[in-house]
Amino acid sequence: MVQNKSDYYINGYSVYKTEFNPESVYYDDKTLTVDWDNGDKSDYHFLWLRDNCDCDKCVTNLSKEQVFEICDVPFDIKPNSVELTSDNMINIIWDYEGHESSYHPAWLKQHCYSQKARENRILLPKVWDKNKIDKQLPIYEYKSIMNDDKSLLSWLYDLRDFGISKIENVENKLKTVQKVAERISFIRKTNFGTVFDVVSKANANSAAYTTLRLPLHTDLPTRELQPGLQFLHCLINDASGGESIFVDGFKIAEYMRDNFNDDYKALTKLPMSFYNKDKASDYRFDSPMIITDHNGKIIEIRLANFLRGPIDVPAENMQILYRAYRQFILLTRDEKFQFSYRLNAGDLIVFDNRRILHSRNAFDLESGDRHLQGCYVDKDELLSKIRVLEREL
Ligand code: OGA
Ligand code: ZN
Ligand code: ZN
Repeated sequence: MVQNKSDYYINGYSVYKTEFNPESVYYDDKTLTVDWDNGDKSDYHFLWLRDNCDCDKCVTNLSKEQVFEICDVPFDIKPNSVELTSDNMINIIWDYEGHESSYHPAWLKQHCYSQKARENRILLPKVWDKNKIDKQLPIYEYKSIMNDDKSLLSWLYDLRDFGISKIENVENKLKTVQKVAERISFIRKTNFGTVFDVVSKANANSAAYTTLRLPLHTDLPTRELQPGLQFLHCLINDASGGESIFVDGFKIAEYMRDNFNDDYKALTKLPMSFYNKDKASDYRFDSPMIITDHNGKIIEIRLANFLRGPIDVPAENMQILYRAYRQFILLTRDEKFQFSYRLNAGDLIVFDNRRILHSRNAFDLESGDRHLQGCYVDKDELLSKIRVLEREL
C-alpha cells in the first residue's frame, strides 16, 4: 500500500508532502534517530515504529486500518538492520520474525513527537475581545459558502479559529439553516428537534421560546456532550429589542486565570449542576464550567444560568464556587469583551457553542415578529470536513 513517490506519499486517505529529507539515520538500544536536512532531529521508539508499519500484513487494504497488534511482538523489539535508501525511505528489518517495514520521510517528519514538533502542532484559538472582533469578524456570502469549496474551507478555518462567523444574504426560506449546516456534515438532533424554531411559543419548554432576555450562555450544558457548532438563521427580526451579544468564553476564562486565579481554579475543578426538564425528557449533567485538557489548556466552557440545578458540592466548597461563578458572570457583562449585534433577516451566525457565549435581550412582539431557526453540528464534523477538503484543494 505504500505509494512511494519522492515528493509526496499517500497513507490511507492522507497525503503527506515531502518538505525535508533525512541526512543520516542511526540508533541505540531503544530509539532510531533521524537528522533532517533542515537541522531538526527526531527520535522514534522502536515500539512506535513497529506499531506504525503500514505493510500489507500490518494494515488491511480493505479499510486501510491496522490489523497488527503491538502485544504480538516482544516489548524490546529492535532492528536487525536499518537502511536509508537513495530515495530517502527508511527500511527496517526487525529482529523478530524478520518483519520488514518501510517509512516515508514525509510521514515520519509529520508525526515526529519531539517537544518542539508537538508544540507546533497545537492549534491555538484566536481568542477575542470587543476590539478585536469588531475589526476581524469573519463574514461570508451565502452563495459562496454553498457553491464554492474554497470559500467553504476558508469559512471553516475561521470558524475553527475565531469560534464565530457571520454569513450574509442567506435565502429567507425555512430550513435553509439545515442546508448550510449540511455543507459541513450531519446535524446533531436533540430533544428540541433537528431544526429548532426560536419563536415565542404558548407552551414554551425553554426560556429561548419566550420573549424573555436570555443571559450569556452555551446551549445544552445539560448534555454529556454540548453541541459543538450552533447555527442561528434570522428569518424575521422586526420586534423591538432582541439584540444579540456574543462573548468569547475562552477570553473570560483566560482573564480569570490571570486576574482571579483562585476563582479560575474553582471553576476548573468544582462541578456546576445543569438541569433541563421537559415532559418526556430529564437531562442533568454535572461539570466544571471551565474545562481544561491534560496540558491545562482551556478547551470548553459550560454556562447557562437558566439551565442549572441546585449546586451539589461539599459544604466547604459552596461559597468558593459561588464566588467564582458570580465573578465569571460579572466579567461577561463587561462591554470590553462583548460583540454586540442586531441580527438582520438574511443573517446566519454560526459559532462554537463550547466556547462562545451568546445572549439576546428581551423583545416586544407588539412591534413586530421575530423568528430564528437553528440547528447544531458537532465539532469533530467541522475538523473532519477541513481535513477532507484539504485533501482535495
Ligand atoms: C437559543 C438562543 C438566541 C436568540 O435559542 O438558545 O440563544 O437570539 N436564542 O433568540
Ligand atoms: Zn508490517
Ligand atoms: Zn442559546
